[in-house]
Amino acid sequence: MNEKTPLIRIEGLRREFPMGRETVHALDGVDLTVAEGEFLGVTGPSGSGKSTLLYLLGGLDRPTAGHIWVRGRDLTALDENELAAYRRREVGFVFQSFYLVPTMTALQNVEFPMYFARIPPTRRRERALYLLERVGLADRRNHRPTELSGGEQQRVAIARALANDPIVILADEPTGNLDSRTGAEVIRLLGELNAEGRTIILVSHDPAMIAHTRRHIRMLDGRIVGEET
Ligand SMILES: Nc1ncnc2c1ncn2[C@@H]1O[C@H](COP(=O)(O)OP(=O)(O)OP(=O)(O)O)[C@@H](O)[C@H]1O
Ligand SMILES: [Mg+2]
Repeated sequence: MNEKTPLIRIEGLRREFPMGRETVHALDGVDLTVAEGEFLGVTGPSGSGKSTLLYLLGGLDRPTAGHIWVRGRDLTALDENELAAYRRREVGFVFQSFYLVPTMTALQNVEFPMYFARIPPTRRRERALYLLERVGLADRRNHRPTELSGGEQQRVAIARALANDPIVILADEPTGNLDSRTGAEVIRLLGELNAEGRTIILVSHDPAMIAHTRRHIRMLDGRIVGEET
């Protein structure tokens, strides 16, 4: 697939939450295409629908209306099992609060998604080690999350997100719990991964982080209201 074929195509996407007698329009008609190899930033004020968009893209939630095609496959047409497989194997998530398994070492955390993908143990270990090296943490492989700094934990989470060689990395405020210098390192790492060809969608309300992306969209009240390159 070349750069011009959209990796992701979104049309008329809506997500409504009924709340008593009112309805929250978390996404109110979003159209978007993302090319293979893009580093797309998503910005906008709190409550504008950024996380909702990412959850739908990652198969963590289903839209009220509209479609999301990933490599031509309509996510809304997948059944629960297919969507779970998509979520586990084809998407890499990075969240603000890391979500590492506290009882597992860095190495085990990176191996974890490969366990579900039924990768044989030897290959699992090799790839986890390779990925920890890639994020500069080979020497921390036996540390548990509490024995790592925030920036290190997020780098482990990024290595884990890469475990199953995902189609796209979805990062929701990945620097939200980090100081600005550590946050900038994490964003630099995402930039390097993008330079190696990885498609990344980064949600952030921090202009300094968004400045590292090549294109960014601005959201407001569940809609895309601007785009800059
Ligand atoms: N499960 C839910 N039930 C009801 N309303 C929800 C739910 N999830 C999100 N919303 C509402 O949808 C809107 C969009 O939420 P979303 O989390 O996508 O915003 P966001 O842009 O990620 O904000 P933030 O920058 O604070 O993370 C908000 O008004 C929110 O209150
Ligand atoms: Mg959010």
